[in-house]
Amino acid sequence: MPSIAIIGAQWGDEGKGKITDFLSDTADYVVRFQGGDNAGHTIHSKGEKYSLHLLPSGVLRDTTINILGNGMVINPESLVEEINVLKNLGKNPTIYISNRAHVIMPYHKTRDQNAEDTQNIGTTLKGIGPAYQDKAARVGLRMGTFVTPALFKAYLATHFEGVKGNYEGTPEALFQTYLPIIETLKDLVTDTSVILAGAFEKNKRVVFEGAQGTMLDIEQGTYPYVTSSSPSAAGIPAGAGVAPKHIEKVLGIVKAYNSRVGEGPFVSEMEEAKADVIRKIANEYGTTTGRPRRIGYLDLVALKHAHRVNHFDAFAITLFDVLSSFDELKLVTGYNLNGTVIDYVPAELETLSQCEPVYQTLPGFKEDISHLTDWNALPETAKDYLKTIEHITGVPVGMISVGPDRRQTISMTNIF
Ligand code: GDP
Ligand code: IMO
Ligand code: MG
Repeated sequence: MPSIAIIGAQWGDEGKGKITDFLSDTADYVVRFQGGDNAGHTIHSKGEKYSLHLLPSGVLRDTTINILGNGMVINPESLVEEINVLKNLGKNPTIYISNRAHVIMPYHKTRDQNAEDTQNIGTTLKGIGPAYQDKAARVGLRMGTFVTPALFKAYLATHFEGVKGNYEGTPEALFQTYLPIIETLKDLVTDTSVILAGAFEKNKRVVFEGAQGTMLDIEQGTYPYVTSSSPSAAGIPAGAGVAPKHIEKVLGIVKAYNSRVGEGPFVSEMEEAKADVIRKIANEYGTTTGRPRRIGYLDLVALKHAHRVNHFDAFAITLFDVLSSFDELKLVTGYNLNGTVIDYVPAELETLSQCEPVYQTLPGFKEDISHLTDWNALPETAKDYLKTIEHITGVPVGMISVGPDRRQTISMTNIF
């Protein structure tokens, strides 16, 4: 049962899409298990750039089967749009959607906006939190119900008043709007847990593709400045409908520095002048919302936290090429909490907000590394940066990404 989980080890946008696409070359299945179109996964292939939000990053490979698992919250309009974009580019990927996944309706977006007016989490306003709220409150709309018009109608008749919030549309208009979308999606909706059980029985290669990152996990992240699902490896069994023992390896995707979009404490945040340099080189603007991302030094305290909850077999260090413009490189190795250095992430927001970064400074590398395909060819100072990460976190670096293109990847281990 060769399977691998691609897990964001930071605050999202680590390059999960790129690495998933790279690994899906030899994968039979790529599975999303949480989140929705709050995700924005970018893939560069053969000169084309693709931005995926709901579709798993295996969709560019002809032979890969792509699954949207039960733990996702799916905006059907966005999904149809995304499928159509690919079709217009001549792609016709195989996609299955769990009948247990929850559906995002326009009123979820209204409620997201209304909650933001007072809470200011900096959400993507895609309706993610409210859809998960309805799921937990046991009043949500699931895909299997949605694609069966009679059941969808009955759902609206029973639940609309209770879930609509300040949304001003009518249930009748909603029903009519969604009929053509239902027609497009209905044949893709099925029990994906059964498909995956069959895949494991046949020893197929399965990649689980996380969205967001561990520090945005509702359980393990910087609550309440988190998303409303579990992007860490623990979210896979629940969100894909597979047994925990089917997760064989966990690859932590680590941006060579830190970025964060949205509000919330960010201990390793950089001075704005330096952040802006990185933002420009790496185009650090949200794939989904276009917001400028906040930039920080690589936070090894947060990475150790992520490793504890995910038990990474290896790291894939991404955007490593971006660091080549700096004379020196800083790593955050501890948090100074009122005079005491700690090496863990405090759970309480108030305490975390008081933490100051403790740095280890290393010499930088000025060489262009974006064409390299071999670890041995890396400058010694670049190797030292990676070795320090390995030493402090205890996780080996198994892959390095030195550019957005598929081919700009150095792979030291055969991960499958
Ligand atoms: P994801 O949400 O984790 O899939 O990451 P995003 O796609 O939102 O953000 C990562 C960004 O970095 C995208 O624009 C990628 O094209 C780009 N990218 C990925 N890997 C590399 C890399 O190694 N070097 C550079 N320069 N860009 C990269
Ligand atoms: P990918 O998969 C980075 C952030 C939002 C906000 C918080 C809650 O591309 O890495 P939500 O809309 O989920 O309720 O917003 O989570 N966020 C992301 N940040 N990358 C993402 O996805 C994100 N998805 C949500 O900015 O701070
Ligand atoms: Mg992203």
